[in-house]
Amino acid sequence: MKGCRVDLRAISKSFGTYQALKDVSLSIQKGEFFSLLGPSGCGKTTLLRLIAGFDDPGAGDILLDDSSILALPANERHVNTVFQSYALFPHLSVFENVAFPLRLRKKPSGFIRDEVARYLSMVRLEEHRDKFPAQLSGGQKQRVAIARALINEPAVLLLDEPLAALDAKLRQHMLIELDSIHDSVGITFIYVTHDQQEAISISDRVAVMNEGAVLQVGTPQEIYESPADLFVARFIGETTILVGTVVRTGGGAAEVNVPGLGPVAVQSAKALAPGNTVTFTIRPEKLVASREKQDLPGNGGNCFQGVVEEIIYTGFLTKFFIKAGGTTFRVFRQHGNLPRGGDSAIAWRDTVYLGWQAGDAYVVEVKQ
Ligand SMILES: Nc1ncnc2c1ncn2[C@@H]1O[C@H](COP(=O)(O)OP(=O)(O)OP(=O)(O)O)[C@@H](O)[C@H]1O
Ligand SMILES: [Mg+2]
Repeated sequence: MKGCRVDLRAISKSFGTYQALKDVSLSIQKGEFFSLLGPSGCGKTTLLRLIAGFDDPGAGDILLDDSSILALPANERHVNTVFQSYALFPHLSVFENVAFPLRLRKKPSGFIRDEVARYLSMVRLEEHRDKFPAQLSGGQKQRVAIARALINEPAVLLLDEPLAALDAKLRQHMLIELDSIHDSVGITFIYVTHDQQEAISISDRVAVMNEGAVLQVGTPQEIYESPADLFVARFIGETTILVGTVVRTGGGAAEVNVPGLGPVAVQSAKALAPGNTVTFTIRPEKLVASREKQDLPGNGGNCFQGVVEEIIYTGFLTKFFIKAGGTTFRVFRQHGNLPRGGDSAIAWRDTVYLGWQAGDAYVVEVKQ
């Protein structure tokens, strides 16, 4: 496998009195597709700029395959960056834009011709080689920028929201292309985005950031199924959050009293004791809603009555917002997956049954 391992050790960075990065440590594997995910202003670009060498950290170290690169200028780091804004040379053709880094290094013209052809084919732009940037679509421009960033064969490619300027359909398409480009070059990709859907659909692992700190590092499945804290639970996907007090434990599930709702059965790998305050989340696809009580999970399951506040049809699924005991539950039902005679019949303002299994909730926080 090509590419490098990237280690960030206790990185901090301040601008004046504002601390943009707080003690960030990450270990990114060779050849990994790794995403930095977090809301606007959380420090993603700042972190990328430190790796690229456009700025210096106030504290900490950055290592590529065990060697510190802090003392190296940007052009000696074997790291290249793709920006949101393409940054193409408008007066150069597609071919010359991609050839530019090789011309700088005074490579022979035969070598340049072959290499540019190879990378243009990888990003599927052979037919557009003689066009100028102004004659290209957004997705094509971004592919030129990617080819230009790859042609020097960096060990690490940094991508700062490279798809942000594209429309939703093209973004989806470019994500698939990026994935296949990553497969064919085999180097380490560090991808910055504030779009959780993008991050979880393409990454091997994701670091979720907020306010300059890393809150959780994990596979897309880990951060979705087992969020480290409430911020991550809310930021990744949609969910319903409940807070209650443990009344008793034993028999495989704890009984948690949720104000307004009553006793709820909760299973958790975390140790729960009577008197604890627990915060737990239930993902919308784990919830079942129906006008018929018999459609709901039986033994050991939770079942409440609620009123449908809102129904949003999204094409492949319907989102129901159902209010029960003061909490609005988000329930997603994929079409073609409806219980027979079940919630297809649910209408706005209906009173329905709402249920889930004790093991389908995930306990995020336990307080004594
Ligand atoms: N050169 C600078 N001088 C002062 N403050 C800065 C500078 N660069 C970044 N910041 C601040 O640091 C914080 C993090 O900025 P950064 O650009 O890293 O955020 P981000 O996560 O990339 O956000 P976005 O998703 O909007 O691109 C912000 O509050 C920003 O205002
Ligand atoms: Mg940014």
